[in-house]
Amino acid sequence: MRRQAQRMERSGTPQSPVSGTECRKCARIRRLPCRAGLFLRAFFVYYLGMDIITLGNELLRQKAEPVRPIGAEYRKIAEDMIAALHEGKGVGLAGPQVGLMKRIFVVHIDRDVPRVFINPTITMTSQDQVKCEEGCLSIPGMYADVVRPESIQVQAWNERGRPFTLDAEGILARVILHEYDHLEGVLFIDRLSEPKRNKIISKWEKRKKA
Ligand code: NI
Repeated sequence: MRRQAQRMERSGTPQSPVSGTECRKCARIRRLPCRAGLFLRAFFVYYLGMDIITLGNELLRQKAEPVRPIGAEYRKIAEDMIAALHEGKGVGLAGPQVGLMKRIFVVHIDRDVPRVFINPTITMTSQDQVKCEEGCLSIPGMYADVVRPESIQVQAWNERGRPFTLDAEGILARVILHEYDHLEGVLFIDRLSEPKRNKIISKWEKRKKA
């Protein structure tokens, strides 16, 4: 998810080095077949660094696979994802956004430590819902109000393979839910009404062509 406070200065300037539909590396990685592809994608991400893919890349629409086992390589993957998150000036980044189709995401909001979630499960969502503006590193420059539960409980493993349970509310809960959606191939624009979604998509396509 993108940091909202800085949207004015950043709108129209894609954060990712990827422009257009996808870079050569993403295209190369995307063509690899299923299971071997998953392994090789993890390998490419591990050794070649991370580019954030954007709307239009079909990887954003696929469901990510569980991490089994949570090997030592996930410490570096998590570290690289946090670095990519900081570079993109975002607050959350999920595996599929860097072409890694694994159930992992990282979150770093203001006045909090960076957090890593592997194989997360949302174990509780509050009845209370709140509306708040969201953006996404994979749809740079686009923002819309999204309604989500106010507070949640999430169970996951960290990059060292240790399980934890976290009660989160407010912006932290929102970012976790946004990133969890990425693992399911869901984007924040899917949670908007159809006219609003179409408006964002056409604006995005126009901006991409410009
Ligand atoms: Ni996002």
